[in-house]
Amino acid sequence: MNRDEPLVLGIETSCDETGIGIVRGRTLLSNTIASSMDEHSRYGGVVPEVAARAHLEALQPSIEAALAEAGAALGREGPLALADLDAVAVTSGPGLAGALMVGVGAAKALAVSLGKPLYAVNHLVGHIAADILDADAPPLEYPTVALLVSGGHTSLLLVRDLTTDVELLGETMDDAAGEAFDKIARILGLPYPGGPQIDKAAATGDPKAIAFPRGLSRASDMAKHRYDFSFSGLKTAVARWIEQREAAGETVPIDNVAASFREAVVDVLVTKALAACADHDVPRLLLGGGVIANRRLREVTLARAADAGVTVRIPPLSLCTDNGAMIAALAAELIMSGREPSTLEFGADSTLPVTEIQVAPAAERVA
Ligand code: KG4
Ligand code: ZN
Repeated sequence: MNRDEPLVLGIETSCDETGIGIVRGRTLLSNTIASSMDEHSRYGGVVPEVAARAHLEALQPSIEAALAEAGAALGREGPLALADLDAVAVTSGPGLAGALMVGVGAAKALAVSLGKPLYAVNHLVGHIAADILDADAPPLEYPTVALLVSGGHTSLLLVRDLTTDVELLGETMDDAAGEAFDKIARILGLPYPGGPQIDKAAATGDPKAIAFPRGLSRASDMAKHRYDFSFSGLKTAVARWIEQREAAGETVPIDNVAASFREAVVDVLVTKALAACADHDVPRLLLGGGVIANRRLREVTLARAADAGVTVRIPPLSLCTDNGAMIAALAAELIMSGREPSTLEFGADSTLPVTEIQVAPAAERVA
């Protein structure tokens, strides 16, 4: 295996995106994403069984598309041949169990049939690795705090080294940030996914119109849950506020509700992320996850981080949302740092802890 600039194909199926990515070392060659988002829209959120079936259908054509894209990126006449790969990588967790299983099964089949090493890696750490593929950014520096916000997670991490040392500082205790956007959009009668809709509605609203609660932000909460998040109280507060206006026969100012809700979410995310930077004396913050598309979140993060002397990295959106390239990138880093492949006995682990960056080879496991 080429350990200097390994050619790796990554498979990501932890939620509703079937992502196939191919990298060569730290260079992105292809990033194909098939999303089943439309199929979930009438339910207002991701339905695990629907996502799993969609992965099964999308995998084969996505792999072919990724090989064609990589062939073109390498200046070849045809698609990249599977035989040319140095390794296969897959997300083994965390995520939806049934969805993960589809990717894990496919990755094992591919690795065994090709006789290639297989790296089973952590989805959350993959989000950080995505940033390495940003050709326009300077090399990733450590330590860095990372804030990952999507429909499935809201996590604050301290990354001392991508391949050996990632610490979970805190995470959401109920809904993920994106999920909160989706649920409030539903209450407001806006379509799924709610994030972009709320962003649009908020553009003409006043963020100070309604003082919605900031979850786990009181002094007593900050003592115990300094880096944890909770959005369920905020969700209830928005629903009550709307109910009261409707009961009084008043029209609900959707733009003000959207702007004030968005401000509450953004405020908590940015405050806690910058608190983590200050507490650990880390002047770097990395953002990841689909909620990063939120205009206000980017704006407030950049402004408040500048005041605090913190540098912010935001990868391009195509690398922020779930994708296979980030999984391939993480495996490439592991290979380049000399790590052995995972053995075939691993399974999908919906609660894989972030400290488990790679599902370890059997020999390294403690009995
Ligand atoms: O990372 P992502 O694409 O995938 C999953 O979590 O599966 O994130 C999707 C989430 C959805 O909840 C969506 O509502 C949210 O990201 N989102 C946004 C925005 N765009 C997407 N949330 C807030 N503002 C946005 N502009
Ligand atoms: Zn994700």
